[in-house]
Amino acid sequence: MLSPMTQNIPQSVTLQVEGFPDITAQSGERLVLALERGGVDILHRCGGVARCTTCRVTFQEGEPDAMTLAEYDKLTEKELLGQARLSCQIECAPGMRLTPLQTAASTGLEPGKAPAEAIEPDPQWTTRPGASTEG
Ligand code: FES
Repeated sequence: MLSPMTQNIPQSVTLQVEGFPDITAQSGERLVLALERGGVDILHRCGGVARCTTCRVTFQEGEPDAMTLAEYDKLTEKELLGQARLSCQIECAPGMRLTPLQTAASTGLEPGKAPAEAIEPDPQWTTRPGASTEG
């Protein structure tokens, strides 16, 4: 399965982030990086490779149906599937309203190594459980 954004021309999107001013991002941009650039002190302790789960967010609107297999496996392992998403494994898209769950301010931890521009590991896409397009 191709990246959900592969077919789309990049466009400006607005992220609504609880507790922070709105953030302008590009569709397809890595969510964790857009959040950080927008001033959110979100953690990414593993450097954005779907290992630590500290970049987790919850969506109030616009949760993507596409999910990387790496995210699926990590959320399953940590019993977080259906409860949170990993912002290092998500591409920005229109209509996202979300809450970061672990920030430097809330935990007293350093954010962690900078994630790469592109999603790592090289994403293989599946669909999240409960997605509107499922079935
Ligand atoms: S899982 Fe570690 S930064 Fe996303």
